[in-house]
Amino acid sequence: MTDPVVMATDLEKAYRINGTSIYALRGVNLGIAPGEFVAIVGPSGCGKSTLLNLLGGLTVPTKGRVMIDSSDLAHLSADRAADLRRRMLGFVFQSFNLSSVLTAQENVELPMLLAGMASKERVARAVALLSAVGLEDQLDYLPGEMSGGQKQRVAIARALANRPAVLLADEPTGNLDSTTAREVMEMLVRIHRENKSALVMVTHDPDDATRADRIVRLRDGRIES
Ligand SMILES: Nc1ncnc2c1ncn2[C@@H]1O[C@H](COP(=O)(O)OP(=O)(O)OP(=O)(O)O)[C@@H](O)[C@H]1O
Ligand SMILES: [Mg+2]
Repeated sequence: MTDPVVMATDLEKAYRINGTSIYALRGVNLGIAPGEFVAIVGPSGCGKSTLLNLLGGLTVPTKGRVMIDSSDLAHLSADRAADLRRRMLGFVFQSFNLSSVLTAQENVELPMLLAGMASKERVARAVALLSAVGLEDQLDYLPGEMSGGQKQRVAIARALANRPAVLLADEPTGNLDSTTAREVMEMLVRIHRENKSALVMVTHDPDDATRADRIVRLRDGRIES
């Protein structure tokens, strides 16, 4: 079997609130194979976002480890870890998380700028990515001038900027009306297939989950099945 692109071992996450530890995750083991589509489902508060953020190195586990492309995040310097995340991972959030002062094109260019890509190539790729998500006429729009669906398509284009092996999406359609949600979902699935990138998606929608290769059910910080 090929090595997983992301591998979580004995993952625990506790938050300290008023001197007591609240366990958001209690020992999760999960490997994501290259190109695999995994849906993460479970009741509110069961630890889905916590798990996704740990897999993406956005937060640090209390115990256990996360390997990305066979590198242990905890063993890398902050710079190396950031570099690995930038190369390997793309994030899509429920609330878009775009920079409000940057245009659509500038938002998509940003991860490439941080990765040191030359200006000409960066601009060409940003335009191509935004065109691929149907936003060729909105390149200069600010997030405040776009609909939710348009903002999420910018966020998807941005997530793809550095050709990540893994797309991590936390309820990417959660803030969208049902028609737009379906369009964004189709787009993510198509991109995952065409780019052969793994897709790890937190979702509340049973229809979305059934499209995945595998459904991971979380309950009270543990994988139920
Ligand atoms: N930054 C934080 N500080 C303290 N507690 C937190 C923090 N983030 C999450 N938690 C707690 O950890 C648990 C899991 O939260 P998490 O956000 O992972 O749930 P979720 O499954 O994504 O829920 P939802 O479906 O509502 O998004 C919850 O009890 C939550 O209150
Ligand atoms: Mg959540």
